[in-house]
Amino acid sequence: MTKRMPVVAANWKMNGSRELVNQVLLQIKQSGVCQDIEVVISPPATLYSYFDEQKKIHELDHVFLAAQNINELDNGALTGEISVGLAKESGCQWVICGHSERRSLFKETSKVTAKKFMKALNAGLKPILCVGETTEEKETGKTFSRLTAQIEAVMHLGGKQAFKDCLIAYEPIWAVGTGQAASPELAQEIHRFIRGMIASICPETAKTVRILYGGSIKPENAAALFSQPDIDGGLIGGAGLVPEQFIKICQLA
Ligand code: PGA
Repeated sequence: MTKRMPVVAANWKMNGSRELVNQVLLQIKQSGVCQDIEVVISPPATLYSYFDEQKKIHELDHVFLAAQNINELDNGALTGEISVGLAKESGCQWVICGHSERRSLFKETSKVTAKKFMKALNAGLKPILCVGETTEEKETGKTFSRLTAQIEAVMHLGGKQAFKDCLIAYEPIWAVGTGQAASPELAQEIHRFIRGMIASICPETAKTVRILYGGSIKPENAAALFSQPDIDGGLIGGAGLVPEQFIKICQLA
């Protein structure tokens, strides 16, 4: 079986501060967690440059900076938006694409998400494609069709090369920020389905692509989730804002 390097990513959303950047980087360094895994942190855009600077000072080469979002265009009269070039110049190496909050609160479609995904990839950044179903879709048996549509949007735009250097995060919307994580068995079933979809267009990539689970991961449930064969790490929200909890989750990966 192909060995895939685990990844633990923290999405700070509209939270955090320079002080939190300092605390997290210091604890990552002291704990030595990033020797066997890749750690990704996605703070708000105003902290990108500071994070990048501090990570270099601490010589944390296995800690990567991710943008929470980019615009699908290169520039223009788009007040408040950030292009991939700006994110890259601020030190970002990865980009979260299509987080459920972007999709629901900012009405981002799968097509727009796919454009952002390709923008990141073409600029040499690694996209993290978030996919997931709502409570209603889950209850009406539409989970797989929802995920298929979200992943196919990227396939249509990027073809089979698109998934070679990306991450996929399965984040059921009913589990994000609710304290109700998916069971390890259910998450595994869905991760296997996603890997199968990638295999249908590129069997080689399916073996190497890393698929993260996200949605109410805590130190208490991380080990059981991470021990599933198709779960390669996690995308952490709330617990990523508490350095001790985040480090613990990294250790469990
Ligand atoms: P949560 O968020 O860990 O707070 O559920 C996950 C996410 O939104 O990525």
